[in-house]
Amino acid sequence: MNAIQEEILELKARMGATILAHNYVDAAVQDIADFCGDSLELSRKAKDNSAETIIFCGVRFMGETAKLLSPGARVLMPAKDAGCLMADMCDPEKIRAYKAGHPDHLLVAYVNTTAETKALVDVCVTSGNAERIVTKLGSERPIMFLPDQNLGANLNNRLGMKMDLWPGCCPVHHRIAPDMIKAAREAHPRAPLMVHLECQPEIVALADAALSTAGMLKFVEKSDAREFIVGTECGMIYRLSCAFPDRKFYGIEPKLVCKNMKKITLENVLDCLKGRGFEIEMDPELMAAAVRPIERMLELS
Ligand code: 13P
Ligand code: SF4
Repeated sequence: MNAIQEEILELKARMGATILAHNYVDAAVQDIADFCGDSLELSRKAKDNSAETIIFCGVRFMGETAKLLSPGARVLMPAKDAGCLMADMCDPEKIRAYKAGHPDHLLVAYVNTTAETKALVDVCVTSGNAERIVTKLGSERPIMFLPDQNLGANLNNRLGMKMDLWPGCCPVHHRIAPDMIKAAREAHPRAPLMVHLECQPEIVALADAALSTAGMLKFVEKSDAREFIVGTECGMIYRLSCAFPDRKFYGIEPKLVCKNMKKITLENVLDCLKGRGFEIEMDPELMAAAVRPIERMLELS
């Protein structure tokens, strides 16, 4: 632990705050978190939270989800502008227009959406529970899946479904190309290849497993392999290396970096604890509408 990390831990304990962090944040930030996880695990932690203050080390939609599930807590973000590029690809006005034109469709939204988008949909999913929830929803009503066209297409392929897909994606994962996979396979021929479900279907077809970030931890736990190729944001390599110090993890080149996740630093986490964080505040009406599809997700998963 360095001096700033020690100061964070001391202040956090004095304030009785909880630090939740996504698996993609910088190693130094993962080290001072009370809990590191994927979107689904972080939602569950927020729901069970009893601390007065949550410092959320991740992107804004994750902080909003924590606030929606733990409305009595103060949820603070260390970086004001840590957004999610995919969440920004859903314009609420366009969703309203879609709904007006497709009144029979069920709207299923990836949790990587703003509270405004959540307020307009029927149910949310994360990459960790999407398959289970979409299967449960069945095919009684046509479905529009938003905003990740890749996750949606991967689900359609796996489940033999024909959900409509919103034109959105995660640019960090979308840019993984077959030649990058080929190079990683050639460099590490004995390593199974895990990719995130936000990758394009042609990349998923080349992988040994397509998973959420928590799914990757479970995959490694069950595997006898000693080394793995990790097709997701580079923060996950540190998370896996800490959980499995006796295994080796290799990223995809060029390195996959979510610039927004990297906006969370030890310095701004400390600032947050010193009263200079950015509190998540939402209109009560918006909160009531946006929490509904998240609660539905937790019931179904
Ligand atoms: P996970 O839910 O798998 O952690 O993914 C969240 C995310 O933003 C991936 O880009
Ligand atoms: Fe959003 Fe992609 Fe960053 Fe995940 S990696 S937070 S989907 S921009």
